[in-house]
Amino acid sequence: MLEPLFDDGWIEEVIRPVKSGKEASVYLCRAGARTGEELVAAKVYRSPENRGFKNAAVYWEGGTRGWNAHDLRATKKRSGWGKTVLFGAWILRENETLEALHRAGANVPRPIAQVGSVLLMSWVGDEEEAAPQLRQVRWDRARAGRIFDFLVGQVELWLANDIVHADLSEYNVLVWRGRPVVIDFPQAVDPRFNRNAYSLLQRDLANLYRHFERLGVRRDPRALSAALWERWLHSDAWLGMPEGAPVE
Ligand SMILES: Nc1ncnc2c1ncn2[C@@H]1O[C@H](COP(=O)(O)OP(=O)(O)OP(=O)(O)O)[C@@H](O)[C@H]1O
Ligand SMILES: [Mg+2]
Repeated sequence: MLEPLFDDGWIEEVIRPVKSGKEASVYLCRAGARTGEELVAAKVYRSPENRGFKNAAVYWEGGTRGWNAHDLRATKKRSGWGKTVLFGAWILRENETLEALHRAGANVPRPIAQVGSVLLMSWVGDEEEAAPQLRQVRWDRARAGRIFDFLVGQVELWLANDIVHADLSEYNVLVWRGRPVVIDFPQAVDPRFNRNAYSLLQRDLANLYRHFERLGVRRDPRALSAALWERWLHSDAWLGMPEGAPVE
């Protein structure tokens, strides 16, 4: 899986595997000079069998504009080719989302390259250790409150870029030197087109809050979701869109 990355000079050495889960394995690698980084994370997506059709419709609702009819039919028929198409689409979605958010100044890893089923991005941590996940970090209540508010600000920044994470939790936020960095965006949705976006936004904030509530933070995630959504609806997201475009 990682050989082409050596051949193309993206990486020089696989230092160690970091995590192997059901959907992806992540490796810490020494970066090739062309990356401009010292260390990179290589996220290797598991085969189409593991990231296939389960719940796919929720996330791809309204998100298949520009797909050719043959591929679209294959995903609807859930054929082998359909799985391959969808598999590639998840990886591309994560890459493009990270690119847009990195450009917008959000706290996310910088995406560096996509080679087949491998996504290369900047490493959060140092050579000795990977940044812990949010769930492993303990803060006093005041600090936790500030971190929660910061993350709500990130959610708002994503929304301003027409992105809802759709799998936000204490597992997908890393914390390095006191700063949260959000990862894992393949299922992100575009609220201009996906009718599930608002409920996914509510779920994201509810999941995040459930963690912070245990640390003593008191906020109202439903009111926060509503306020963010309301502001986004009145933003310029719709300007320049053809009449009626939000829903396919
Ligand atoms: N850029 C990175 N820097 C450091 N560690 C990372 C980076 N990206 C991912 N990781 C580590 O790998 C784990 C899995 O990554 P990610 O959440 O993107 O994949 P996933 O699809 O959730 O995989 P799984 O199904 O195995 O949980 C993260 O929780 C984190 O510990
Ligand atoms: Mg994850």
